[in-house]
Amino acid sequence: MKALIPAAGLGTRFLPATKSQPKEMLLVVDRPAIQYVVEEGLASAADEVVIINSREKKSIEDHFSPDPALVALLRERGKDAYADAVEKVGGYNVSYVYQEEALGLGHAVRCAAEKTGDEPFYVLLGDVLVPDNKMLPAMQAVSDAHGGASVIAVMPVPDDQVSRFGVIAGQAVAADVWKVDSLVEKPALEDAPSNLAVFGRYLLSPRVMELLADVEPGVGGEIQLTDALDAVLREEEMYALIVDPADGFDTGTVESWLETNNELYRRAHA
Ligand code: G1P
Repeated sequence: MKALIPAAGLGTRFLPATKSQPKEMLLVVDRPAIQYVVEEGLASAADEVVIINSREKKSIEDHFSPDPALVALLRERGKDAYADAVEKVGGYNVSYVYQEEALGLGHAVRCAAEKTGDEPFYVLLGDVLVPDNKMLPAMQAVSDAHGGASVIAVMPVPDDQVSRFGVIAGQAVAADVWKVDSLVEKPALEDAPSNLAVFGRYLLSPRVMELLADVEPGVGGEIQLTDALDAVLREEEMYALIVDPADGFDTGTVESWLETNNELYRRAHA
């Protein structure tokens, strides 16, 4: 099973810091943000992480490439802990596909169609870090309990935030699980069917990948993953796992990135 990480965005909110350095490579405590996301995928059922990259962001690929010369130098100097860390990150099973044009999240995911084939797959959005790696296994358990259905993570958001997210309609089938009836991307508050917002972790059936090929541009003129999820509901069941906002750490804005750094540093040194 593959875990897809879309990473071709421009990182506009972090300019000028992201003028020559990818947003995904910004440091969070002791490693680039995207390393947490790769490690989360590999700690779950994924045997390979596929980064959907842009051609301009080679430093992401350099980070996950082996560097035997650096490892040897570090060992020679007795810096084994650093050598181990470099060796580990160069050994992760990461591959790349390219999104040649920024046409939206749905388009980015579709760029990995040849990688996922006819298997279910994860999508992990890099703006949120889940360092305890527990969310994808919890989603997999919900899927297993419902015949292998697609499962998306959602979280309750305040009214003034709903228009920033994909939002679900459906009914509760357990304390923290909803059966999804429909989804809408970035609705106005009065059109939002609930306050449960799509959170950035998805376990999706191969049919979603097929349907993405036909999704027309939606909100913002972009090909939306949310629209393919809504379309697949005509054919398949989908469930939403309600996650605690405290389980994920937002790095999507300078302010939240700073707060995440502080919080994860505090935890690491508690
Ligand atoms: C994307 C998705 C949206 C989801 C959000 C979570 O939006 O399109 O459905 O709720 O991620 O972060 P974006 O933040 O890329 O605009």
